[in-house]
Amino acid sequence: KKVVLAYSGGLDTSIILKWLQTEYGCEVVTFTADLGQGEELDPARQKAELLGIKPENIFIEDLREEFVRDFVFPMFRANAVYEGLYLLGTSIARPLISQRLIEIAEATGADAVAHGATGKGNDQVRFELSAYALNPEIKVIAPWREWDLTSRTKLLEFAEAHQIPIAKDKRGEAPFSVDANLLHTSSEGKVLEDPAVEAPEYVYQRTDHPENAPDSPEYIEIGFEKGDAVSINGEAMSPATILTQLNEYGRKHGIGRLDFVENRFVGMKSRGIYETPGGDILLEAHRGIEQITLDSGAGHLKDSIMPRYAELIYNGFWFSPEREMLQALIDKSQEHVTGTVRLKLYKGSARTVGRWSPNSLYSEAHVTFEEDAGAYDQTDAAGFIQLNALRLKLIAQRNKRVSGK
Ligand code: ARG
Ligand code: SIN
Repeated sequence: KKVVLAYSGGLDTSIILKWLQTEYGCEVVTFTADLGQGEELDPARQKAELLGIKPENIFIEDLREEFVRDFVFPMFRANAVYEGLYLLGTSIARPLISQRLIEIAEATGADAVAHGATGKGNDQVRFELSAYALNPEIKVIAPWREWDLTSRTKLLEFAEAHQIPIAKDKRGEAPFSVDANLLHTSSEGKVLEDPAVEAPEYVYQRTDHPENAPDSPEYIEIGFEKGDAVSINGEAMSPATILTQLNEYGRKHGIGRLDFVENRFVGMKSRGIYETPGGDILLEAHRGIEQITLDSGAGHLKDSIMPRYAELIYNGFWFSPEREMLQALIDKSQEHVTGTVRLKLYKGSARTVGRWSPNSLYSEAHVTFEEDAGAYDQTDAAGFIQLNALRLKLIAQRNKRVSGK
């Protein structure tokens, strides 16, 4: 019996690791991914070794480029936002982690995978739907749904009994639960559980307070090719480098903070604090370049399917035929989404102030308030309006007749 565990190196997943060894009698393989959460990965290796994991069973991988190129960027082509506000930073990382868990299970001959998500949240659903979609025979172990370590005290007792090192600040209750990667940091629970109460400033970890941001605005230019960001200020960069740099601009100007109550797939509402500094800038810029490069029919169609696409990602259906079908539609729409957007960053906001493209559909000749040299015949508009008004007139006449006035 062998299980691949999504291992962060933190206290909770270390307890899970031990618990799998002692309660399940499994050989444990650990998988730790650098998704840009900003933590050293060496301690995770040392801790896994300390907990008795064989070196050949410790997998530590830098997945930042793959994460941004194959997950974040495809999602941003859709301008995906869940319930109007959430940029899906946690949701989009789970399928990649599951994909690697399954690949490592296949490579090491493991028959199961395990994760540290609770039985109350979305993450268990995302991990497991992705795992089953990629390997229908795989077994999934979700210790939080099974064990009797139902309080912090019991967890710490278990850790002490099994010589799991506990960082000093972890002895007390952690003040809130965090998930971080290159796209965002999310904080939930504990001090954040009352949605009526403003979150304390210390919850925010990767953005400066907008009120303390520089008093003068900063301008940047983002280049796009077929819907994906490819450069900043004229310098070509890899996907993960672009997002890393945008995060730095966003941090400095206090961009991308969100205090939000969302509907979890499992039915309950949950309040979270999100920080998506680079993502917020990227979303604004992508919309900016689409404004001049997308036809209205194409743009409105892709906008209309966006909430459905975002919900699929939120609910854990990245590896589903319907997500792939919508992705094909979205990707097709991006064929001409190439050009440059100029943005103004200032005290918590990123706004498009200029955009240009070799593929632009914007025609100054048509839209100008000045003489248009025959580009557009204004008398055409009269018939256009008359035919569009026909049914509205018939309705109005009927209403008059029926009400007898
Ligand atoms: N509510 C967010 C989502 O479902 C984030 C969940 C994980 N975050 C956390 N702080 N544990 O995508
Ligand atoms: C968890 O419950 O493990 C985190 C929150 C979520 O998955 O929604």
